[in-house]
Amino acid sequence: SKPKILVARAIFPEIISRLEQHFEVETNQSDAIWSKAELADKLKDKDGAFTTGGDRIDVEVLAACPRLKICANMAVGYNNFDLDAMTAAGVLATNAPDVLTETTADFGFALLMATARRVTESEHFLRAGKWNKWSFDMFAGSDIHGSTLGVLGMGRIGQGIAKRGAHGFGMKVIYHNRSRLDAAMEVECKASYVSKEELLRTADHVVLVLPYSPASHHTIGAAELAMMKPTATLVNIARGGIVDDAALAKALRDKTIAAAGLDVFEGEPKVHPDLLTVPNVVLTPHIASATVPTRMAMANLAVDNLIGFFKDGKPLTPLNPAVLAT
Ligand code: GLV
Ligand code: GLV
Repeated sequence: SKPKILVARAIFPEIISRLEQHFEVETNQSDAIWSKAELADKLKDKDGAFTTGGDRIDVEVLAACPRLKICANMAVGYNNFDLDAMTAAGVLATNAPDVLTETTADFGFALLMATARRVTESEHFLRAGKWNKWSFDMFAGSDIHGSTLGVLGMGRIGQGIAKRGAHGFGMKVIYHNRSRLDAAMEVECKASYVSKEELLRTADHVVLVLPYSPASHHTIGAAELAMMKPTATLVNIARGGIVDDAALAKALRDKTIAAAGLDVFEGEPKVHPDLLTVPNVVLTPHIASATVPTRMAMANLAVDNLIGFFKDGKPLTPLNPAVLAT
């Protein structure tokens, strides 16, 4: 009989049809948000799961689901997985890298430009009927072209941001990462390696593209914001929790930095109430990878991982391949 798969959230009907060719599928096309107990209950008779970044797979869920062999995440980030616990339980984890890189880098730039040039703030002003005259400093922001771009986290998406900045906008690009890029990639990205502190002190625009882990929790807090230029902008397209949102709201209110653009939030979909009341922040609901072709590609990659795993034990993008060896 076919392996049993749970699709934990609503997804394109084409993806369900594709899964149904290979698996017995339970879906959630009404897109209910399940509690952890409900998720565990739905998963307990399943061999595999198609998950999204909001579906937490941890020790408790794993303990309730002894049949489970694989969770295929439709996201590049996988902080919803307790990877060590999954490995210990012999459950394979896969993510969806690469297919979203350029789309997400595009959005990083969209958010950077909207933030530096005050696009949404000025639109709110216009819609509110407040535009009745030209004035010399109305919504005067900061320049993108020719400025210094600091990329914190230089994975594939960070490299995409760096290339756009260097080649498209003539920006001087500096970056910090746990490990340095090889020399050829530094040349391709026109990016120079600096310490995190130098990046924060010298960049005109700081873009965060690092994965979330306990080690990257509050990478940007009050102390780091204080190092930044008062004219600087901060963009977070990585994960909530990398920025201390309360400290950021205070820094924006106090003009410690000029502006921020945020696609991700601590405790999302809740947003820190102080962020909702400061004007100099652009807020988007975790949509950096949200184009139709890219979301389709991410979903298809998760399906490819499930098919590859059950067919011949060869998923495309395993996170804990040690599980396959046992
Ligand atoms: C989105 O946040 C992802 O990790 O793919
Ligand atoms: C992280 O893995 C990235 O793709 O930037």
